[in-house]
Amino acid sequence: MKIIRSVSAMKKWGELNGGDCGFVPTLGALHDGHVSLIRRARKENRKVAVSVFVNPLQFGRRQYLLYPRDIKGDAEIALKAGADVLFAPSARDIYNPGFEGRIILPQLFRTLQSQRLEWHFKGVLVVVMKLFQIVRPGRAYFGLKDPHQLALIEKMAADFDVPVVIRKCPTVRERGGLARSSRNALLTADERRAARVIYKALMIGKNELKKAGVARALAEMKKTISSEKTARIEHMEIVDPLTLSPLDGRSKEALIFAAVSIGGKRLTDNVRFRLAR
Ligand code: PAJ
Repeated sequence: MKIIRSVSAMKKWGELNGGDCGFVPTLGALHDGHVSLIRRARKENRKVAVSVFVNPLQFGRRQYLLYPRDIKGDAEIALKAGADVLFAPSARDIYNPGFEGRIILPQLFRTLQSQRLEWHFKGVLVVVMKLFQIVRPGRAYFGLKDPHQLALIEKMAADFDVPVVIRKCPTVRERGGLARSSRNALLTADERRAARVIYKALMIGKNELKKAGVARALAEMKKTISSEKTARIEHMEIVDPLTLSPLDGRSKEALIFAAVSIGGKRLTDNVRFRLAR
């Protein structure tokens, strides 16, 4: 596996290999969730590129500095999962001093989890667009773990005619249900156990939604999460995963999303399922 640090070298690689390449963009601190994306890319493409880049545009200053970084560990994991190239650029190389690229969020964002996160999603779209231009992948792999990010990226790729096929990959969980996340490393053993309440609440929500509707599902989820004293609900919503708007008569699927802070650390998870009609 090759490690490429410079944007210009990666562009050359992209010109030669991009079309046949499956691409997995990440923030690093790779875990089994990322590995499942890389493995899937390996099965479906001649070449596989993984990027590791802690994107300053999608974090506050403190979060940016605190984000776990372990490029040696990431390289080992990416290699084992089947990557041909690990692209690990510096922030200065991605955003040169004159950089002014901006992307405005689509209407879709109006319905999204929290307007407070607008700057975060704008930062995600800018970096993903840049990475698409540099790597030029035929296919790109994203996790259903982040459904809003995924919907916005799909919309951006369609709106700008980016010649990439977006592949959606299922959420990988620990035993006990906690979704794998780089942020799990910040949890103490007790908090990790407590964090299982999130998936438990989502499963209860799924059950209640089918039986008794949206309001009841949200109420039961709230009750479940409140039973865990280190847990605080930041946001919960039940929407149609295609429009990210409230369910209506035409909705074929439901998405239940929860953002919960456990001991002050924000964790997100969701379930998506077909509605019987
Ligand atoms: P990061 O959080 O590192 O995630 C990289 C990719 O892995 C995303 O598509 C995410 O949805 C997926 N992923 C994370 N946890 C997962 C899990 N438990 N199961 C399956 N897939 C999982 O998301 C980002 O990075 C960044 O915002 C990025 C898109 C790279 C732009 O900077």
